[in-house]
Amino acid sequence: MVISMSSTIERVRTGIPGLDDLIYGGIPKRNIVLLSGGPGTGKTIFSQQYLFYGLQHNEPGVLVALEEHPVQIKRNMATFGWDIKKYEDDGMFAIVDAFTGGYGESVKREKYVVRSVDDMAELIDVVKQAIKDTKAERVAIDSVSTLYLTKPAMARSTLMQLKRVLSGLGATAVLVSQVSVIERGFGGPGVEHAVDGIIRLDLDEVNGELIRSLIVWKMRGTRHDLHRRPFDITDKGIVVYPNKIVKSRGELRITESASIIGGEENE
Ligand SMILES: Nc1ncnc2c1ncn2[C@@H]1O[C@H](COP(=O)(O)OP(=O)(O)OP(=O)(O)O)[C@@H](O)[C@H]1O
Ligand SMILES: [Mg+2]
Repeated sequence: MVISMSSTIERVRTGIPGLDDLIYGGIPKRNIVLLSGGPGTGKTIFSQQYLFYGLQHNEPGVLVALEEHPVQIKRNMATFGWDIKKYEDDGMFAIVDAFTGGYGESVKREKYVVRSVDDMAELIDVVKQAIKDTKAERVAIDSVSTLYLTKPAMARSTLMQLKRVLSGLGATAVLVSQVSVIERGFGGPGVEHAVDGIIRLDLDEVNGELIRSLIVWKMRGTRHDLHRRPFDITDKGIVVYPNKIVKSRGELRITESASIIGGEENE
């Protein structure tokens, strides 16, 4: 479902509790959003939650798997209660297997297999086909970093190519970008400017405890919240606390704040 809030632009709800408040109702339709963060920060869970929410609201989706085996992905999703089998059977959901390279049983089971991940043309062809077949409105790529890890100079052009295909076909996409634990950026200069939005997920150790937080760094086409907000990963997925602020990452304090939409801080 695409909803509209505070303006007439079409938005795609992430369905992640608390997050849509931070972006005034959802991601502007056809935006390509970089989901950037270090290891274990929740990027994969976020992207799967985004897709599954869409399926539950009759919006088809495609997951491009570059990091994990499709079987492992399905198993992990099921632990959150996100059972995609029904949607796969209905032709509303597809996993593009760009992980196994066509080796093993996967090639028989999966319909969309990319044999050489280094071959962008092949990847794009398979992704296009999956989007057309499922009529996908949501796409997640986990992760785009894998596509240019060994050739950083190609990062921007790779992303621009993907962006043209994805938004050209009407999809609203989240692209997972891996950064190292200490890196301040989001995945490289070419990458950061090419995308329409950036949501940064973080995990910080404070007094011997890991604290999760996120910040919407950019979102073309809409106003958005500018605070670092705490979030949790529960057995139902990610829950963001839009009324709490993480004051400082080094010396963390979580404070209450007014609600985002209609709250004082945004007036
Ligand atoms: N059922 C659960 N309940 C609470 N937390 C969980 C649950 N399952 C996973 N997690 C947390 O989520 C983390 C994994 O999140 P995720 O796979 O999304 O990370 P990621 O950002 O994709 O990392 P990477 O870059 O290494 O792929 C685990 O390390 C764990 O802390
Ligand atoms: Mg991951």
